[in-house]
Amino acid sequence: MVAAVRVHKVGGPEVLTYEDVDVPAPGPGQIRVKQHAVGLNYIDTYFRSGLYPAPSMPFVIGNEGAGEVTAVGPGVTEFKVGDRVAYVSALGGYAAERILPADRAVKLPKEISYEQAAGMMLKGMTVQYLLRQTFKVEKGMPILIHAAAGGVGLIACQWANHLGAEVIGTVGSKEKAELAKANGCRHPILYREEDFVARVKEITKGEMCPVVYDGIGKATFPASLDCLRMRGMFVSFGNASGPIEAINPNILQQKGSLYMTRPTLVHYTAKREDLLATAKELFDVVISGKVKIPVNQKYPLKDAQKAHQDLHARETTGSTILIP
Ligand SMILES: NC(=O)c1ccc[n+]([C@@H]2O[C@H](COP(=O)([O-])OP(=O)(O)OC[C@H]3O[C@@H](n4cnc5c(N)ncnc54)[C@H](OP(=O)(O)O)[C@@H]3O)[C@@H](O)[C@H]2O)c1
Repeated sequence: MVAAVRVHKVGGPEVLTYEDVDVPAPGPGQIRVKQHAVGLNYIDTYFRSGLYPAPSMPFVIGNEGAGEVTAVGPGVTEFKVGDRVAYVSALGGYAAERILPADRAVKLPKEISYEQAAGMMLKGMTVQYLLRQTFKVEKGMPILIHAAAGGVGLIACQWANHLGAEVIGTVGSKEKAELAKANGCRHPILYREEDFVARVKEITKGEMCPVVYDGIGKATFPASLDCLRMRGMFVSFGNASGPIEAINPNILQQKGSLYMTRPTLVHYTAKREDLLATAKELFDVVISGKVKIPVNQKYPLKDAQKAHQDLHARETTGSTILIP
């Protein structure tokens, strides 16, 4: 038996139950991983609340972690006992030890610690595909990133700044504005006090942005569309404030023949070669020092409820990890 956090019925942070679970021997194509650190992500709250349905009940919540391989199942050739690995994979994350499909694991370079890995695999690979695949950010482009001081946000600001973009970011407080600025966000906007569309207009001298990265959802829609120039790209990649309601596609025409996409990391890393290439680019940019992984909160795994409460209360910045 190992310690884990399970959900028996969906709801608020209080449904997170710290208890012992069985971990079987790995089956064909699986590995067993002793986890040293587990990532906390907003998507965990969607599974916990039922916004995203879990395949079964009860389930071990969590989608990201890092640790060492303790057993390999039949047919696994890429990994051996003792390998340092990290992953993003559907559920099973909040546990001291877990079974993982081997084709979702990535070997960790020696320069990356378990804690860094747990703070970056999901968020950092997301930033890779958002900035480098969904819409290719280029030097000199003004771009808008919402929740710039958050987990995805601080990595995105650094990476976009490294690519030469003029990063505009929204943040919930003055402290977060300072933090975002120190991480490459040239123009933080306090969107709880300021009209962010007006500020984007002012900063870009009326040109507006070719792309908006929006993980906030309900609260920033449709204003995010007004930050785009004609034929700009609206990248709606999350629902921190709740999901966007049904959209009439005519709104995209009215606001300037806009493009809209609602991407998810799962589809950008579905093929093993895409997973490895995305992870490699992330490892390279982190090892080079161009992007640092700000693990700003650490909680013991047993305090997962508190971690979720703090995430909802907008009290966290950068990445948060749980230690089994
Ligand atoms: N599609 C994908 O592939 C993918 C992958 C990873 C993450 N995501 C999405 O990216 C977003 C950020 O994820 P994250 O894990 O890095 O979280 P996070 O940004 O660290 O936390 C969410 C932040 O959203 C802001 N926020 C605005 N309105 C909020 C509200 N009503 N309630 C709570 N927070 C609110 C807060 O920042 P301020 O106080 O500064 O407003 C808060 O800190 C989430 O929507 C997540 O689902 C998507």
